[in-house]
Amino acid sequence: MVGILVQEPVTDFPEKRDGLALEAMVDEIEEINIKKDQALKQQKAAAQAQFEADMNAASEFDATKDKTQFRQYEDASDTVKNFYLEQHTKQTVAYNLKARNDFHAKTRAEMTIWEAMERLNTLIDESDPDTSLSQIEHLLQSAEAIRRDNKPRWMQLTGLIHDLGKLLFFFGAEGQWDVVGDTFPVGCAFDDKIIYGQKSFAANPDSTNEIYSTKHGIYTPGCGLDNVMLSWGHDEYLYHVVKDQSTLPDEALAMIRYHSFYPWHQMGAYDWMMDDKDREMFKAVKAFNPYDLYSKNDEKPKLEDLKEYYLELIDEYFPNKVIKW
Ligand SMILES: [Fe+2]
Ligand SMILES: [Fe+2]
Repeated sequence: MVGILVQEPVTDFPEKRDGLALEAMVDEIEEINIKKDQALKQQKAAAQAQFEADMNAASEFDATKDKTQFRQYEDASDTVKNFYLEQHTKQTVAYNLKARNDFHAKTRAEMTIWEAMERLNTLIDESDPDTSLSQIEHLLQSAEAIRRDNKPRWMQLTGLIHDLGKLLFFFGAEGQWDVVGDTFPVGCAFDDKIIYGQKSFAANPDSTNEIYSTKHGIYTPGCGLDNVMLSWGHDEYLYHVVKDQSTLPDEALAMIRYHSFYPWHQMGAYDWMMDDKDREMFKAVKAFNPYDLYSKNDEKPKLEDLKEYYLELIDEYFPNKVIKW
C-alpha cells in the first residue's frame, strides 16, 4: 500500500533569528537602490539638458557636473558589499533548484495575510524597539500611497503584501543573502549591470560553468521570464505563495516577483529574455517601483484605522482566509 505523506504545518518559528540585522540590511540595500534611481534620473535630466543645450548652441551647460553623483552606491558600506559578495557567490543553479524543491516539499506555516503581517512585524520589533519604520508600516505606506493615487484595488493589495516573503528569513533561510537584495537570473551569464558587476560573481562556481557562463546559458532568447529561474529570495517565495492562492492579476504577480529585479527594471539588462507578456509586465513593475522605493518618507500610517479596509481587500482576492506559507 502506498502511504500518503501527511505534512504537518509548522506553526511555530523554529529558530530565533536576528530580525534587526535583516532590517538594517534591508535599509542599506534600499538606500542604494534609491541612490541609483536618483542618479539615473539625474543622468537623464543631464542628457536632456545637454540635448537642449546642443540645440541652443549658446548655452554653456556642463554635462559632466552631475557625474560625480552617479554610482555613489559604489561607496556603500562594506556590510552591503560583503552581503552582495556572499549572495553573488552562493546563488547558483544548484542552490536555486534546492530552494524550490524545499519550498514545494512542505508547508512552513498556516496563517492569514494579516497574521503574516503581524508576525513579520513582531519578529523585527522584538529585536529592536527603536526601529524607525517597521515592516508593517512600510507595507501599509506602500498600499496607502497607491490608494491615494486612485490605483486599482488589486494594486493596493499588492503594495500591502509585496514584502511578506521576508518571512522566509524565519522559515529556514540560510542567511540574509537568500532573502533580501537585488535579484538576477541564474543559469546564464551574470550581467555586468547587476550591482557590483560580474567581478562580484568571481567565486560563484556557475561563472565558470561551461553552459551557465554563456550569455544565454540554459535559456533561449525571447523565452520569457516565466521560464527563467530568478535568484531565490523574498520576491520569488511570495510569488509562488500568491500565484496559487489568490486571484490577483498577472500584473500583481509581476510586481511581486520582479520588484527586486533591479538589473532588469532599472538597469535594462536581460531584455533578450523578454517575450510579449514580459514587455507588458515591465510597465506594471515600473509603475509599482516608486511606491516601494519612495513611500518610506511619508507619515506613519495608523494600523487600527486601516485594518478594516485592508481586511476586506484581502478577502476580495484570497478565497481562502488561511494561507499556506
Ligand atoms: Fe522587497
Ligand atoms: Fe518593499
